Amino acid sequence: MSKLCVIGTGYVGLVTGTCFADLGNQVVCMDIDDNRISQLNKGVMPIYEPGLEQLVLQNVKAGRLTFTTDYAAALKDADFAFIAVGTPSGDEGEADLQYVRSAAEAIADLVEKPVVVVNKSTVPVGTGDWVADIIRKRRNGRPLQFSVASNPEFLREGSAINDFMMPDRVVLGSEDRKAAEAVAELYAALRCQILITDLRTAEMIKYASNAFLATKISFVNEIANICEELGADVRQVAVGMGLDKRIGPAFLDAGLGWGGSCFPKDVKALAHMAVLHGSQPQLLQAVMDINRMQRRRMVMKLRKNLGSLDEKTIGVLGISFKPNTDDLRDAPALEIIHLLQLEGAKVQAYDPQGMENAAKILKSVKLCKNPYEVAEGADALVLATEWNEFKQLDFARIRGLMAKPIIMDGRNLWDPQHLRELGFDYTGVGRP
Ligand code: UGA
Repeated sequence: MSKLCVIGTGYVGLVTGTCFADLGNQVVCMDIDDNRISQLNKGVMPIYEPGLEQLVLQNVKAGRLTFTTDYAAALKDADFAFIAVGTPSGDEGEADLQYVRSAAEAIADLVEKPVVVVNKSTVPVGTGDWVADIIRKRRNGRPLQFSVASNPEFLREGSAINDFMMPDRVVLGSEDRKAAEAVAELYAALRCQILITDLRTAEMIKYASNAFLATKISFVNEIANICEELGADVRQVAVGMGLDKRIGPAFLDAGLGWGGSCFPKDVKALAHMAVLHGSQPQLLQAVMDINRMQRRRMVMKLRKNLGSLDEKTIGVLGISFKPNTDDLRDAPALEIIHLLQLEGAKVQAYDPQGMENAAKILKSVKLCKNPYEVAEGADALVLATEWNEFKQLDFARIRGLMAKPIIMDGRNLWDPQHLRELGFDYTGVGRP
Protein backbone atom coordinates (compact mmCIF):
# COMPACT_ATOMS: atom_id res chain seq x y z
CA MET A 1 0.00 0.00 0.00
CA SER A 2 1.36 3.42 -0.97
CA LYS A 3 0.39 6.79 0.39
CA LEU A 4 -0.80 9.20 -2.26
CA CYS A 5 -1.73 12.84 -2.19
CA VAL A 6 -3.71 14.06 -5.19
CA ILE A 7 -3.76 17.83 -5.58
CA GLY A 8 -6.86 19.04 -7.44
CA THR A 9 -10.28 17.39 -7.37
CA GLY A 10 -11.42 18.18 -10.91
CA TYR A 11 -12.49 15.21 -12.91
CA VAL A 12 -8.93 13.99 -13.47
CA GLY A 13 -7.84 14.35 -9.82
CA LEU A 14 -11.03 12.96 -8.38
CA VAL A 15 -11.19 9.96 -10.71
CA THR A 16 -7.46 9.25 -10.32
CA GLY A 17 -7.52 9.53 -6.52
CA THR A 18 -10.64 7.42 -6.21
CA CYS A 19 -9.37 4.69 -8.54
CA PHE A 20 -5.98 4.51 -6.79
CA ALA A 21 -7.83 4.18 -3.46
CA ASP A 22 -9.88 1.40 -5.00
CA LEU A 23 -6.64 -0.35 -5.96
CA GLY A 24 -5.80 -0.44 -2.23
CA ASN A 25 -3.73 2.70 -1.71
CA GLN A 26 -4.20 5.31 1.02
CA VAL A 27 -5.26 8.46 -0.83
CA VAL A 28 -5.82 12.02 0.33
CA CYS A 29 -7.47 14.28 -2.26
CA MET A 30 -6.74 17.91 -1.66
CA ASP A 31 -8.32 21.03 -3.17
CA ILE A 32 -8.20 24.72 -2.31
CA ASP A 33 -11.95 24.97 -2.98
CA ASP A 34 -13.66 24.76 0.47
CA ASN A 35 -17.08 24.25 -0.96
CA ARG A 36 -16.01 21.40 -3.23
CA ILE A 37 -14.26 19.59 -0.35
CA SER A 38 -17.12 20.05 2.11
CA GLN A 39 -19.54 18.71 -0.51
CA LEU A 40 -17.25 15.74 -1.21
CA ASN A 41 -17.07 15.06 2.52
CA LYS A 42 -20.86 14.89 2.48
CA GLY A 43 -20.74 12.47 -0.45
CA VAL A 44 -21.91 15.05 -3.03
CA MET A 45 -20.00 14.83 -6.34
CA PRO A 46 -18.92 18.08 -8.03
CA ILE A 47 -19.40 16.52 -11.48
CA TYR A 48 -21.64 13.97 -13.11
CA GLU A 49 -19.50 10.97 -13.99
CA PRO A 50 -21.09 7.52 -14.27
CA GLY A 51 -20.03 5.21 -11.40
CA LEU A 52 -17.95 7.83 -9.59
CA GLU A 53 -20.24 8.52 -6.66
CA GLN A 54 -20.52 4.88 -5.70
CA LEU A 55 -16.76 4.32 -5.96
CA VAL A 56 -16.03 7.41 -3.85
CA LEU A 57 -18.50 6.38 -1.14
CA GLN A 58 -17.16 2.83 -1.11
CA ASN A 59 -13.55 3.90 -0.66
CA VAL A 60 -14.35 6.61 1.89
CA LYS A 61 -16.20 3.98 3.88
CA ALA A 62 -13.25 1.61 3.63
CA GLY A 63 -11.03 4.35 5.07
CA ARG A 64 -8.75 4.55 2.02
CA LEU A 65 -9.97 7.89 0.63
CA THR A 66 -10.22 11.26 2.39
CA PHE A 67 -10.73 14.86 1.27
CA THR A 68 -9.14 17.97 2.69
CA THR A 69 -8.30 21.61 1.98
CA ASP A 70 -5.22 21.35 4.19
CA TYR A 71 -2.09 21.10 2.02
CA ALA A 72 0.12 20.24 5.00
CA ALA A 73 -2.06 17.37 6.21
CA ALA A 74 -2.44 16.02 2.66
CA LEU A 75 1.28 16.10 1.84
CA LYS A 76 2.76 15.12 5.19
CA ASP A 77 3.06 11.36 4.64
CA ALA A 78 2.81 11.16 0.86
CA ASP A 79 5.12 8.81 -1.07
CA PHE A 80 3.61 10.22 -4.27
CA ALA A 81 2.25 13.72 -4.80
CA PHE A 82 0.04 13.82 -7.89
CA ILE A 83 -0.55 17.23 -9.43
CA ALA A 84 -3.96 17.20 -11.13
CA VAL A 85 -4.88 20.87 -11.16
CA GLY A 86 -6.49 22.82 -13.98
CA THR A 87 -4.39 24.34 -16.77
CA PRO A 88 -6.85 26.74 -18.45
CA SER A 89 -6.11 28.44 -21.78
CA GLY A 90 -4.46 31.84 -21.59
CA ASP A 91 -5.24 34.63 -24.10
CA GLU A 92 -2.90 33.28 -26.80
CA GLY A 93 -3.86 29.63 -26.37
CA GLU A 94 -0.94 29.02 -24.00
CA ALA A 95 -1.63 26.83 -20.95
CA ASP A 96 -1.95 28.89 -17.77
CA LEU A 97 0.30 27.24 -15.18
CA GLN A 98 -0.47 29.26 -12.06
CA TYR A 99 -2.14 26.34 -10.29
CA VAL A 100 0.69 23.95 -11.17
CA ARG A 101 3.12 26.49 -9.71
CA SER A 102 1.14 26.75 -6.45
CA ALA A 103 1.08 22.96 -6.14
CA ALA A 104 4.85 22.73 -6.72
CA GLU A 105 5.47 25.47 -4.15
CA ALA A 106 3.30 23.72 -1.58
CA ILE A 107 5.25 20.50 -2.13
CA ALA A 108 8.53 22.38 -1.67
CA ASP A 109 7.29 24.06 1.50
CA LEU A 110 5.59 21.14 3.18
CA VAL A 111 7.22 17.82 2.25
CA GLU A 112 10.16 16.57 4.30
CA LYS A 113 10.48 12.90 3.28
CA PRO A 114 11.37 11.36 -0.10
CA VAL A 115 8.59 11.90 -2.62
CA VAL A 116 7.83 11.36 -6.29
CA VAL A 117 5.99 14.33 -7.76
CA VAL A 118 3.73 13.00 -10.52
CA ASN A 119 2.28 15.44 -12.97
CA LYS A 120 -1.14 14.47 -14.35
CA SER A 121 -2.24 17.90 -15.50
CA THR A 122 -1.84 18.51 -19.23
CA VAL A 123 1.11 20.86 -19.32
CA PRO A 124 3.40 22.30 -21.99
CA VAL A 125 6.42 20.22 -22.87
CA GLY A 126 9.18 21.18 -20.44
CA THR A 127 6.87 21.79 -17.47
CA GLY A 128 8.22 18.77 -15.58
CA ASP A 129 11.68 20.35 -15.58
CA TRP A 130 10.15 23.68 -14.57
CA VAL A 131 8.34 22.04 -11.61
CA ALA A 132 11.61 20.45 -10.47
CA ASP A 133 13.29 23.86 -10.70
CA ILE A 134 10.57 25.55 -8.67
CA ILE A 135 10.86 22.95 -5.92
CA ARG A 136 14.67 23.10 -5.89
CA LYS A 137 14.80 26.91 -5.78
CA ARG A 138 12.10 27.18 -3.16
CA ARG A 139 13.90 24.70 -0.88
CA ASN A 140 16.76 27.17 -0.96
CA GLY A 141 19.37 24.60 0.04
CA ARG A 142 17.15 22.64 2.45
CA PRO A 143 17.62 19.04 1.29
CA LEU A 144 14.66 17.10 -0.14
CA GLN A 145 14.87 13.80 -1.97
CA PHE A 146 12.41 14.11 -4.84
CA SER A 147 11.91 13.25 -8.50
CA VAL A 148 9.42 14.50 -11.02
CA ALA A 149 7.48 12.18 -13.32
CA SER A 150 4.95 12.94 -16.01
CA ASN A 151 1.95 10.60 -16.15
CA PRO A 152 -0.51 12.01 -18.69
CA GLU A 153 -4.13 11.00 -18.34
CA PHE A 154 -6.17 9.48 -21.13
CA LEU A 155 -9.53 9.54 -19.36
CA ARG A 156 -12.63 10.40 -21.34
CA GLU A 157 -15.39 12.19 -19.51
CA GLY A 158 -18.36 9.87 -19.25
CA SER A 159 -16.19 6.72 -19.15
CA ALA A 160 -13.33 7.93 -16.99
CA ILE A 161 -13.43 5.11 -14.44
CA ASN A 162 -13.38 2.44 -17.12
CA ASP A 163 -10.58 4.26 -18.91
CA PHE A 164 -8.57 4.34 -15.68
CA MET A 165 -9.17 0.70 -14.77
CA MET A 166 -8.76 -0.67 -18.32
CA PRO A 167 -6.29 1.62 -20.05
CA ASP A 168 -4.84 0.97 -23.50
CA ARG A 169 -1.54 2.10 -22.03
CA VAL A 170 0.04 4.00 -19.16
CA VAL A 171 2.68 6.55 -20.13
CA LEU A 172 5.34 7.58 -17.64
CA GLY A 173 8.16 10.02 -18.22
CA SER A 174 11.00 10.86 -15.91
CA GLU A 175 14.72 11.53 -15.89
CA ASP A 176 14.81 9.18 -12.88
CA ARG A 177 14.07 5.66 -14.12
CA LYS A 178 13.58 4.36 -10.56
CA ALA A 179 10.94 7.00 -9.85
CA ALA A 180 9.09 6.08 -13.06
CA GLU A 181 9.24 2.41 -12.08
CA ALA A 182 7.84 3.24 -8.64
CA VAL A 183 4.87 4.99 -10.28
CA ALA A 184 4.53 2.03 -12.67
CA GLU A 185 4.09 -0.23 -9.62
CA LEU A 186 0.94 1.72 -8.72
CA TYR A 187 -0.55 0.59 -12.04
CA ALA A 188 0.75 -3.00 -11.89
CA ALA A 189 -2.66 -4.44 -10.96
CA LEU A 190 -4.14 -3.10 -14.21
CA ARG A 191 -1.92 -5.41 -16.28
CA CYS A 192 -1.63 -3.00 -19.19
CA GLN A 193 1.26 -1.91 -21.33
CA ILE A 194 3.40 0.69 -19.54
CA LEU A 195 5.65 2.92 -21.59
CA ILE A 196 8.50 4.67 -19.79
CA THR A 197 10.11 7.62 -21.55
CA ASP A 198 11.93 10.81 -20.62
CA LEU A 199 9.87 13.67 -19.18
CA ARG A 200 9.44 15.76 -22.30
CA THR A 201 8.49 12.81 -24.47
CA ALA A 202 5.72 11.78 -22.06
CA GLU A 203 4.41 15.33 -22.00
CA MET A 204 4.40 15.39 -25.79
CA ILE A 205 2.62 12.02 -26.06
CA LYS A 206 -0.39 13.57 -24.32
CA TYR A 207 -0.64 16.54 -26.70
CA ALA A 208 0.07 14.44 -29.77
CA SER A 209 -2.61 11.91 -28.79
CA ASN A 210 -5.33 14.49 -28.25
CA ALA A 211 -4.33 16.41 -31.37
CA PHE A 212 -4.39 13.22 -33.44
CA LEU A 213 -7.86 12.28 -32.21
CA ALA A 214 -9.09 15.81 -32.95
CA THR A 215 -7.49 15.51 -36.39
CA LYS A 216 -9.34 12.26 -37.07
CA ILE A 217 -12.64 13.97 -36.26
CA SER A 218 -11.91 17.08 -38.34
CA PHE A 219 -10.76 14.83 -41.16
CA VAL A 220 -13.99 12.86 -41.19
CA ASN A 221 -15.97 16.09 -40.95
CA GLU A 222 -14.18 17.44 -44.00
CA ILE A 223 -14.95 14.19 -45.81
CA ALA A 224 -18.59 14.55 -44.65
CA ASN A 225 -18.81 17.98 -46.21
CA ILE A 226 -17.44 16.62 -49.48
CA CYS A 227 -19.89 13.68 -49.25
CA GLU A 228 -22.76 16.17 -49.03
CA GLU A 229 -21.70 17.71 -52.33
CA LEU A 230 -21.08 14.40 -54.09
CA GLY A 231 -23.98 12.35 -52.75
CA ALA A 232 -22.04 9.79 -50.69
CA ASP A 233 -22.83 8.66 -47.13
CA VAL A 234 -20.05 9.52 -44.65
CA ARG A 235 -21.25 6.95 -42.15
CA GLN A 236 -20.61 4.14 -44.59
CA VAL A 237 -17.39 5.80 -45.70
CA ALA A 238 -16.21 5.80 -42.05
CA VAL A 239 -17.10 2.13 -41.65
CA GLY A 240 -15.22 1.30 -44.83
CA MET A 241 -12.19 3.30 -43.72
CA GLY A 242 -12.27 2.00 -40.16
CA LEU A 243 -12.07 -1.62 -41.26
CA ASP A 244 -8.51 -0.92 -42.32
CA LYS A 245 -6.51 -1.75 -39.19
CA ARG A 246 -4.08 1.05 -40.00
CA ILE A 247 -6.96 3.53 -39.69
CA GLY A 248 -9.28 1.97 -37.08
CA PRO A 249 -12.97 2.71 -36.57
CA ALA A 250 -12.82 5.02 -33.51
CA PHE A 251 -13.25 8.79 -33.67
CA LEU A 252 -14.62 8.76 -37.20
CA ASP A 253 -18.14 9.93 -36.32
CA ALA A 254 -18.90 12.98 -38.40
CA GLY A 255 -21.06 15.61 -36.76
CA LEU A 256 -20.77 18.99 -35.12
CA GLY A 257 -17.14 18.40 -34.23
CA TRP A 258 -15.22 18.26 -30.99
CA GLY A 259 -15.65 20.31 -27.84
CA GLY A 260 -15.04 19.82 -24.14
CA SER A 261 -12.33 20.83 -21.75
CA CYS A 262 -9.49 18.99 -23.50
CA PHE A 263 -9.32 18.91 -27.30
CA PRO A 264 -9.94 22.64 -27.89
CA LYS A 265 -7.47 23.67 -25.19
CA ASP A 266 -4.82 21.10 -26.04
CA VAL A 267 -4.81 21.54 -29.82
CA LYS A 268 -4.56 25.29 -29.31
CA ALA A 269 -1.76 24.92 -26.76
CA LEU A 270 0.22 22.56 -29.02
CA ALA A 271 -0.13 24.98 -31.95
CA HIS A 272 0.97 27.81 -29.66
CA MET A 273 4.05 25.88 -28.50
CA ALA A 274 4.92 25.13 -32.12
CA VAL A 275 4.69 28.78 -33.16
CA LEU A 276 6.75 29.89 -30.16
CA HIS A 277 9.50 27.55 -31.27
CA GLY A 278 9.47 28.55 -34.91
CA SER A 279 7.25 25.88 -36.48
CA GLN A 280 4.19 26.50 -38.60
CA PRO A 281 1.54 24.06 -37.36
CA GLN A 282 -0.50 24.15 -40.57
CA LEU A 283 -2.30 20.88 -40.00
CA LEU A 284 -3.30 21.79 -36.44
CA GLN A 285 -4.55 25.14 -37.70
CA ALA A 286 -6.71 23.44 -40.32
CA VAL A 287 -8.00 20.95 -37.73
CA MET A 288 -9.19 23.88 -35.58
CA ASP A 289 -10.63 25.82 -38.54
CA ILE A 290 -12.64 22.83 -39.77
CA ASN A 291 -14.00 22.30 -36.27
CA ARG A 292 -15.13 25.91 -35.97
CA MET A 293 -16.77 25.80 -39.41
CA GLN A 294 -18.62 22.61 -38.60
CA ARG A 295 -20.75 24.44 -36.04
CA ARG A 296 -21.35 27.35 -38.41
CA ARG A 297 -22.36 25.03 -41.22
CA MET A 298 -25.23 23.79 -39.07
CA VAL A 299 -26.55 27.34 -38.75
CA MET A 300 -26.05 27.87 -42.50
CA LYS A 301 -28.08 24.73 -43.21
CA LEU A 302 -30.87 26.02 -40.99
CA ARG A 303 -30.84 29.37 -42.76
CA LYS A 304 -31.01 27.60 -46.09
CA ASN A 305 -34.07 25.65 -44.95
CA LEU A 306 -35.91 28.39 -43.10
CA GLY A 307 -34.82 31.53 -44.92
CA SER A 308 -34.22 34.21 -42.29
CA LEU A 309 -33.79 32.89 -38.76
CA ASP A 310 -35.22 36.08 -37.25
CA GLU A 311 -38.14 35.31 -34.90
CA LYS A 312 -37.91 31.59 -35.73
CA THR A 313 -38.12 29.12 -32.84
CA ILE A 314 -35.33 26.56 -32.84
CA GLY A 315 -35.33 23.58 -30.50
CA VAL A 316 -31.93 22.20 -29.45
CA LEU A 317 -31.60 18.66 -28.10
CA GLY A 318 -28.44 18.12 -26.06
CA ILE A 319 -26.27 20.88 -24.64
CA SER A 320 -23.34 19.02 -23.01
CA PHE A 321 -20.25 18.67 -25.23
CA LYS A 322 -20.90 14.94 -25.50
CA PRO A 323 -23.23 12.36 -23.93
CA ASN A 324 -22.85 11.09 -20.33
CA THR A 325 -21.45 14.28 -18.90
CA ASP A 326 -22.89 17.51 -17.53
CA ASP A 327 -19.83 19.38 -18.84
CA LEU A 328 -20.73 22.25 -21.17
CA ARG A 329 -17.22 23.55 -21.75
CA ASP A 330 -16.79 24.47 -25.40
CA ALA A 331 -19.89 22.46 -26.28
CA PRO A 332 -20.87 22.81 -29.96
CA ALA A 333 -24.47 23.41 -28.79
CA LEU A 334 -23.45 26.58 -26.96
CA GLU A 335 -21.88 28.15 -30.04
CA ILE A 336 -24.78 27.12 -32.24
CA ILE A 337 -27.25 28.63 -29.76
CA HIS A 338 -25.20 31.82 -29.67
CA LEU A 339 -25.09 32.06 -33.49
CA LEU A 340 -28.84 31.42 -33.72
CA GLN A 341 -29.55 34.15 -31.19
CA LEU A 342 -27.34 36.58 -33.10
CA GLU A 343 -29.64 36.03 -36.08
CA GLY A 344 -32.74 36.73 -33.99
CA ALA A 345 -33.90 33.16 -33.40
CA LYS A 346 -35.65 32.09 -30.19
CA VAL A 347 -34.03 28.99 -28.72
CA GLN A 348 -35.49 26.31 -26.48
CA ALA A 349 -33.27 23.48 -25.28
CA TYR A 350 -32.98 20.38 -23.12
CA ASP A 351 -30.12 18.19 -21.89
CA PRO A 352 -30.41 15.06 -19.72
CA GLN A 353 -27.63 16.09 -17.27
CA GLY A 354 -26.53 19.57 -18.25
CA MET A 355 -29.54 21.68 -17.20
CA GLU A 356 -28.07 22.94 -13.95
CA ASN A 357 -24.94 24.17 -15.69
CA ALA A 358 -27.00 25.47 -18.63
CA ALA A 359 -29.14 27.59 -16.29
CA LYS A 360 -25.98 29.39 -15.14
CA ILE A 361 -24.87 30.46 -18.61
CA LEU A 362 -27.84 30.38 -21.00
CA LYS A 363 -29.85 33.33 -19.78
CA SER A 364 -32.14 33.96 -22.73
CA VAL A 365 -32.79 30.36 -23.70
CA LYS A 366 -36.01 28.60 -22.70
CA LEU A 367 -34.81 25.58 -20.75
CA CYS A 368 -37.24 22.70 -21.19
CA LYS A 369 -38.03 19.64 -19.11
CA ASN A 370 -37.92 17.08 -21.89
CA PRO A 371 -37.47 16.64 -25.67
CA TYR A 372 -41.19 17.09 -26.33
CA GLU A 373 -41.29 20.51 -24.71
CA VAL A 374 -38.31 21.41 -26.94
CA ALA A 375 -40.30 20.38 -30.02
CA GLU A 376 -43.37 22.40 -29.06
CA GLY A 377 -43.91 25.21 -31.57
CA ALA A 378 -40.40 24.77 -33.00
CA ASP A 379 -39.68 25.70 -36.62
CA ALA A 380 -36.73 23.29 -36.55
CA LEU A 381 -35.19 20.78 -34.20
CA VAL A 382 -31.39 20.50 -33.94
CA LEU A 383 -29.76 17.45 -32.36
CA ALA A 384 -26.47 18.68 -30.88
CA THR A 385 -25.52 15.83 -28.50
CA GLU A 386 -26.28 12.16 -29.14
CA TRP A 387 -27.59 11.15 -25.71
CA ASN A 388 -29.03 7.62 -25.63
CA GLU A 389 -32.40 8.90 -24.48
CA PHE A 390 -32.77 10.83 -27.76
CA LYS A 391 -32.41 7.69 -29.87
CA GLN A 392 -35.94 6.36 -29.48
CA LEU A 393 -38.18 9.41 -29.35
CA ASP A 394 -41.88 9.35 -30.26
CA PHE A 395 -41.40 11.14 -33.57
CA ALA A 396 -45.07 11.03 -34.54
CA ARG A 397 -45.77 13.03 -31.38
CA ILE A 398 -42.87 15.39 -32.13
CA ARG A 399 -44.20 15.93 -35.66
CA GLY A 400 -47.53 16.98 -34.17
CA LEU A 401 -45.90 19.40 -31.73
CA MET A 402 -43.61 21.23 -34.17
CA ALA A 403 -44.61 24.30 -36.18
CA LYS A 404 -42.51 23.08 -39.13
CA PRO A 405 -41.22 19.50 -39.53
CA ILE A 406 -37.54 20.34 -39.98
CA ILE A 407 -34.93 18.14 -38.34
CA MET A 408 -31.20 18.88 -38.29
CA ASP A 409 -29.43 15.79 -36.99
CA GLY A 410 -26.02 17.14 -36.00
CA ARG A 411 -24.77 13.73 -34.86
CA ASN A 412 -26.30 11.39 -37.45
CA LEU A 413 -28.24 9.68 -34.68
CA TRP A 414 -31.53 9.04 -36.44
CA ASP A 415 -32.73 7.04 -39.42
CA PRO A 416 -33.41 9.52 -42.25
CA GLN A 417 -35.77 7.18 -44.08
CA HIS A 418 -37.97 6.64 -41.03
CA LEU A 419 -38.17 10.36 -40.32
CA ARG A 420 -38.91 11.23 -43.95
CA GLU A 421 -41.70 8.66 -43.96
CA LEU A 422 -43.18 10.47 -40.97
CA GLY A 423 -43.15 13.69 -42.99
CA PHE A 424 -40.01 15.30 -41.67
CA ASP A 425 -37.55 17.28 -43.73
CA TYR A 426 -34.38 15.56 -42.45
CA THR A 427 -30.80 16.83 -42.80
CA GLY A 428 -27.83 15.02 -41.27
CA VAL A 429 -24.09 15.54 -41.63
CA GLY A 430 -22.47 14.06 -44.72
CA ARG A 431 -25.50 11.96 -45.67
CA PRO A 432 -27.19 12.13 -49.06
C1 UGA B 1 -10.46 13.43 -24.51
C2 UGA B 1 -9.63 12.17 -24.85
O1 UGA B 1 -10.43 11.23 -25.56
C3 UGA B 1 -9.06 11.53 -23.59
O2 UGA B 1 -8.20 10.45 -23.95
C4 UGA B 1 -8.25 12.59 -22.84
O3 UGA B 1 -7.71 12.06 -21.64
C5 UGA B 1 -9.15 13.75 -22.51
O4 UGA B 1 -9.66 14.31 -23.73
C6 UGA B 1 -8.31 14.78 -21.79
O5 UGA B 1 -7.34 15.29 -22.37
O6 UGA B 1 -8.52 14.99 -20.59
P1 UGA B 1 -12.96 13.88 -23.68
O7 UGA B 1 -12.68 15.32 -23.94
O8 UGA B 1 -13.61 13.49 -22.40
O9 UGA B 1 -11.61 13.01 -23.76
O10 UGA B 1 -13.95 13.39 -24.82
P2 UGA B 1 -13.87 12.51 -26.15
O11 UGA B 1 -14.68 11.29 -25.97
O12 UGA B 1 -12.50 12.34 -26.62
O13 UGA B 1 -14.66 13.46 -27.16
C7 UGA B 1 -14.17 14.77 -27.48
C8 UGA B 1 -15.09 15.45 -28.45
O14 UGA B 1 -15.02 14.84 -29.73
C9 UGA B 1 -16.56 15.43 -28.07
O15 UGA B 1 -17.10 16.71 -28.29
C10 UGA B 1 -17.18 14.41 -29.00
O16 UGA B 1 -18.53 14.68 -29.28
C11 UGA B 1 -16.31 14.60 -30.23
N1 UGA B 1 -16.25 13.41 -31.10
C12 UGA B 1 -15.69 12.26 -30.65
C13 UGA B 1 -16.73 13.47 -32.40
O17 UGA B 1 -17.24 14.52 -32.84
N2 UGA B 1 -16.62 12.38 -33.21
C14 UGA B 1 -16.06 11.22 -32.78
O18 UGA B 1 -15.99 10.26 -33.58
C15 UGA B 1 -15.59 11.16 -31.47
